[in-house]
Amino acid sequence: MALLDIKNLTLEIDTDNGWIKALDKANLSVREGEIQALVGESGSGKSLIVRAISGGLPPQMRLTADRMTWRGANLLAMNAEQRREIMRRDIAVVYQDPLASLDPSVTLGEQLEESVPYEFVGKGWFWEKQKERKRIAIELVHKVGIKDHAGVMSAYPHQIASDIGQKFMIAMALVSQPALLIADDPTRGMEATTKVQILKLFKRLNQTKRLSILFVGHDLLAISSMSDSMTVLYCGQTVESGPIKQLQKRPLHPYTKALLDSAPSFRADLPPKSPLVTLPGTIPTLQHLPIGCRLGPRCHRAQKTCVQTPAVRKIHDHFYSCHYPLHTNNS
Ligand SMILES: Nc1ncnc2c1ncn2[C@@H]1O[C@H](COP(=O)(O)OP(=O)(O)OP(=O)(O)O)[C@@H](O)[C@H]1O
Ligand code: SF4
Ligand SMILES: [Mg+2]
Repeated sequence: MALLDIKNLTLEIDTDNGWIKALDKANLSVREGEIQALVGESGSGKSLIVRAISGGLPPQMRLTADRMTWRGANLLAMNAEQRREIMRRDIAVVYQDPLASLDPSVTLGEQLEESVPYEFVGKGWFWEKQKERKRIAIELVHKVGIKDHAGVMSAYPHQIASDIGQKFMIAMALVSQPALLIADDPTRGMEATTKVQILKLFKRLNQTKRLSILFVGHDLLAISSMSDSMTVLYCGQTVESGPIKQLQKRPLHPYTKALLDSAPSFRADLPPKSPLVTLPGTIPTLQHLPIGCRLGPRCHRAQKTCVQTPAVRKIHDHFYSCHYPLHTNNS
């Protein structure tokens, strides 16, 4: 059974032009123990999916789905308290703008210590519990690769560099020993060494603790080095998903192929410095969404039928939504 299973998730946003489908029947499934990548160009709706999973959407957003389950339990039927409990213990999220979710007036150390679940600190006098919280917090800070724990823990959020902040937020996310870590673009803007450290940390946590990870981002090189499977999102529609090796070797959707081709070293067969085969145009804004397959205006394979949204089809555990996929009899 999938840990997290989402089918036909539609998220509408109230805009000046009325309600607009920012996510249009998106699908996502994360299995126990796997690293799943969620990729797509900027504006494709990756962070909206993360928000939909976290719950507590603002009133200008509304959500429907045929299925949205956590370990088989229906997330949409849960009350706010049940939902919060899952987000407190089972699913941890490192948001795209991580430091914004911290309290600016409280030191990082205090915030981390406070977020240690009460179940972990045992019974005892309050100073003993406090000591245990501190021990757990320091251990976590070291685990994510921050050496100067004293300096960082006594700092306020605005006083630390962004890469340290990103690592610190990963420590905050790990404090509840979650089953699933959702990391929204965790390596954006990081210099190469820090990026490698973070990726290695994720891989280690996945292998030693069987932590499942939903890794959201555009860094295809990083993603290919660590993920087991991949879901590709374009303009709010999931276009393809499956085992990463399968998608790399034989992408069926024109958008997946364009994405892969835009990261040259992702494909061994592309000679160095050859021109990039990417898509013309840019991702449309929510106010100008094409009907049917949203890739239509940018797709060189598009035909009349593409004004109808393609159904999800599958070949074994490889899913795709395209009327004229690559590598099939249609191509
Ligand atoms: N609160 C909001 N109100 C209106 N539109 C929004 C809101 N949040 C997101 N959007 C729009 O929804 C679309 C998807 O946004 P989202 O932030 O999920 O993209 P993304 O894939 O995470 O991009 P990036 O890679 O840049 O983080 C974009 O067109 C964005 O402008
Ligand atoms: S459905 Fe049509 S427009 Fe969409 S990706 Fe396939 S061929 Fe291109
Ligand atoms: Mg985002």
